[in-house]
Amino acid sequence: MNRALITGGAGFIGSHLVQKLIEKGYDVTVLDNLLEQIHGVYPVKTSPLFCSIKDKVRFIKGDVCDKTLLELALEDVDYVIHLAAETGTGQSMYEIKRYIDVNIGGTALLLDILTNTKNHVKRVAVAESRAIYGEGKYHCEKCGDVYPTERKDEDMAKGDFECHCPKCGGMVTLVATTEDSTIHPSSVYGIGKQVQGQLVHLICKTIGIESVSFRFQNVYGPGQSLTNPYTGILSIFSNRIKSHKCINIFEDGKETRDFVYIDDVVDATIAGMEVPKANGHVFNIGTGVATSVLTVAQTLCKHYGIEVPLTVSGNYRMGDIRHNYADITLAKQILGFKPKWTFDAGIKQFTEWVNCQELQTDNYEASLEEMKQKGLFK
Ligand SMILES: NC(=O)c1ccc[n+]([C@@H]2O[C@H](COP(=O)([O-])OP(=O)(O)OC[C@H]3O[C@@H](n4cnc5c(N)ncnc54)[C@H](O)[C@@H]3O)[C@@H](O)[C@H]2O)c1
Ligand SMILES: [Zn+2]
Repeated sequence: MNRALITGGAGFIGSHLVQKLIEKGYDVTVLDNLLEQIHGVYPVKTSPLFCSIKDKVRFIKGDVCDKTLLELALEDVDYVIHLAAETGTGQSMYEIKRYIDVNIGGTALLLDILTNTKNHVKRVAVAESRAIYGEGKYHCEKCGDVYPTERKDEDMAKGDFECHCPKCGGMVTLVATTEDSTIHPSSVYGIGKQVQGQLVHLICKTIGIESVSFRFQNVYGPGQSLTNPYTGILSIFSNRIKSHKCINIFEDGKETRDFVYIDDVVDATIAGMEVPKANGHVFNIGTGVATSVLTVAQTLCKHYGIEVPLTVSGNYRMGDIRHNYADITLAKQILGFKPKWTFDAGIKQFTEWVNCQELQTDNYEASLEEMKQKGLFK
């Protein structure tokens, strides 16, 4: 029987992955500290994610930065899927040390143990993120492929939200971001994810363990956190719609993201762990489709059957990217990955699930206020 350790296995992606691995006959260990921001104050009773896995796995409650517990979790394991992380992009900009300690420090400790103690781990898979690319890839008629850096405050204040060519300042066309695109994260979270991937590939190669990393786009679906105000526009917009409150659509609403349904992410992750040829590769995992934020709000309203005012406000957050969608050719070729869920079909599943959940306290305005005070929101 294959044995897998999933760090962060009580989280959104982890808990779905656990279910699928168990169906496939894996023996699963989970190491997770049941972070309050994700699981609430009484996770053992009230976290649906944790409750969905707790009787099915060997569960170790603890921090990935705790050497004794991580060593215990690694006993007799063949595969490690390292998902445990602090996941709030905005929050990472003012809780810098915590994000670096957990995301980079936890990965460093894992690799230290694999390097210095006897084990029979065959492959380590780690979650990077599309956040490592910052702005996606663009094409300039004059300069070819370009990677715009952070947009200027003075342009955005004038309502000019699109990226410009970083070389000639001219107009650029958005294209799908390939894995060999320039890496230039625009958040502390993104920097951490980049380093996690680099560390895993470098050290695993040195010690003869296989490695794979995934650059997930925006993963969504039933079970995602509705309580964490720092991540997930789907959760935030859902809370607002279900509370019959208006939605502040930032910028001009035409900014886009690539939303990938959880079941597709689970399939890609398992293929990444199992397919021999995947060793040593970095994979973009998305749908390859760019969806605008305004479309997101409208699709949610449609599936909830609730109309709320959608105010395109021109507000913006420094450090936010304008667009990024994945080129998934490599995952198609090597992993046989093919996203099965369209955005509309996935959102239908998501809203049906949200309708069965308790309505969350709306922390959205408070979190915007917090960001405003730190000068990150205009
Ligand atoms: N969901 C997405 O859209 C997305 C996109 C790109 C990358 N990722 C990455 O995928 C991974 C999983 O994401 P998710 O959406 O399931 O996040 P999540 O926040 O739902 O899950 C993370 C889990 O890690 C646990 N955790 C946090 N800090 C820990 C620590 N110090 N020790 C032990 N456990 C800890 C949390 O309790 C939680 O259960 C993360 O590494 C994340 O960066 C997610
Ligand atoms: Zn140019």
